[in-house]
Amino acid sequence: MAKKIVIASGKGGVGKSTITAGLSRALETEGKKVLAIDFDIGLRSLDLLFGVREQVVKNWGDVLLGNCEKEHAIIQVGDIDFISAPLNFNEAFTCEKVKEMIAKYEENYDVIFFDAPAGISEGFSLACAAADSAIVVSTPDDVCVRSVEITAQKIASSGIKDIRLVINRFIKKLSAKRRFLNIDEVINMTYVQLIGVVPYDTRIGYSSMNHSSFNLKASSQKSFGRIAKRLLGENIPLKL
Ligand SMILES: Nc1ncnc2c1ncn2[C@@H]1O[C@H](COP(=O)(O)OP(=O)(O)OP(=O)(O)O)[C@@H](O)[C@H]1O
Ligand SMILES: [Mg+2]
Repeated sequence: MAKKIVIASGKGGVGKSTITAGLSRALETEGKKVLAIDFDIGLRSLDLLFGVREQVVKNWGDVLLGNCEKEHAIIQVGDIDFISAPLNFNEAFTCEKVKEMIAKYEENYDVIFFDAPAGISEGFSLACAAADSAIVVSTPDDVCVRSVEITAQKIASSGIKDIRLVINRFIKKLSAKRRFLNIDEVINMTYVQLIGVVPYDTRIGYSSMNHSSFNLKASSQKSFGRIAKRLLGENIPLKL
């Protein structure tokens, strides 16, 4: 059975989709079969990060509404399977229906990622509906940290107990100069156990602008690799 992980944050623009794409690629490199699903209804972006925007014809909304077979919504990105988000909300999109739909996919995968939208309303609940674990993403600043604390509480109250923290856009020098929170402060303020730190990396933007894969030597990609291994149960020391 697949491990089903929702990637959430509360605040927008902190790196949820980037981390969904980066971890998908890192797990693909580990030989795992990954399904990444964009749950950002109306504001989808994973198709851009995977470089497949022209190929999006169907989305999970079509599957849920019975407009297409489940296989026809899948776009292949190397060995990763990707499903895009609907452009509009539909009242038929309920947590129960999402769970039923995911149950039909899960036997084919090792890991399924749900890329949640910003906020903690309907779209967020749908993204959490079928997940059995969560990664909450925070940048090292007070505003984002508070939103992650609240988001993690909301995730826990939905019954998901396995919640881990990724600190994104970390800049070691600026943290040392006290321009940002340090890693211990973010952990203490979110009350969530850390699974990894992703550095600020300008090559992330380059990859999405140029529709290219992440550079495997980039510092961010190396950190995705370490997080992927930890997700698979390996004991990998923290490296900043
Ligand atoms: N570690 C990083 N270093 C540098 N830039 C980053 C990093 N992570 C994300 N970004 C950039 O931040 C921007 C927002 O990232 P992304 O779209 O992944 O955030 P998001 O949380 O999914 O946003 P939304 O809430 O709108 O869905 C993008 O331009 C992305 O390239
Ligand atoms: Mg996003």
